[in-house]
Amino acid sequence: MNREQVNELLYQALETELGGVEVYTTALTCAVNKDLKKEWDEYLEQTRNHVEIVANLLETLGLDPQAETPGRGVVRHIGKALVQAMEMAKRTGDENGAQLVAAECVVLAETKDHLNWELIGEVAGALKGGPAEALKSAHDEVEDEEDEHLYHTTGWTRELWIKSLGLPAVLPPPEEEKDVKTAIGAARAKQSREEMLHSKSR
Ligand SMILES: [Fe+2]
Repeated sequence: MNREQVNELLYQALETELGGVEVYTTALTCAVNKDLKKEWDEYLEQTRNHVEIVANLLETLGLDPQAETPGRGVVRHIGKALVQAMEMAKRTGDENGAQLVAAECVVLAETKDHLNWELIGEVAGALKGGPAEALKSAHDEVEDEEDEHLYHTTGWTRELWIKSLGLPAVLPPPEEEKDVKTAIGAARAKQSREEMLHSKSR
């Protein structure tokens, strides 16, 4: 295994979680829907905890959490750009528009976060010994939360967009009602939205 690249992955994971805290903090100032706000509040707390988990993981592996890597700088840049995009949307004065931008920014940030953890899971499965255990326990701790962050916010983004188009939306999204934690579950939840719309209008 390429250990240098494993280290790079962990540094990027830490930077993604740090950026996530900033993204959620700003996204919360754009949230109009109360249920969405509640959801993001929870995700912000969980993301703060993920920062701790990855920083501890790096230390356990004998790595300095403060060390800079070229990839880390890129991840930080993207995180800042997402925060700037939300601020730009807020300045237009269109509340619902800014909420949509924030939802998209959270999905973008969580897509990278989700990928990191998927890869950390792959590495944990392939490694042996102490480092494998440390990676595995960190992964077990955050995996379900990461799934929820990505799939549920993706559902929110789609339904809020649908609502903004003047079409019937399922809010909170089916992903949330069905407590989706897998890609297959997310696809099924999306498929069931028509059904949910009909049962709600009945
Ligand atoms: Fe996270």
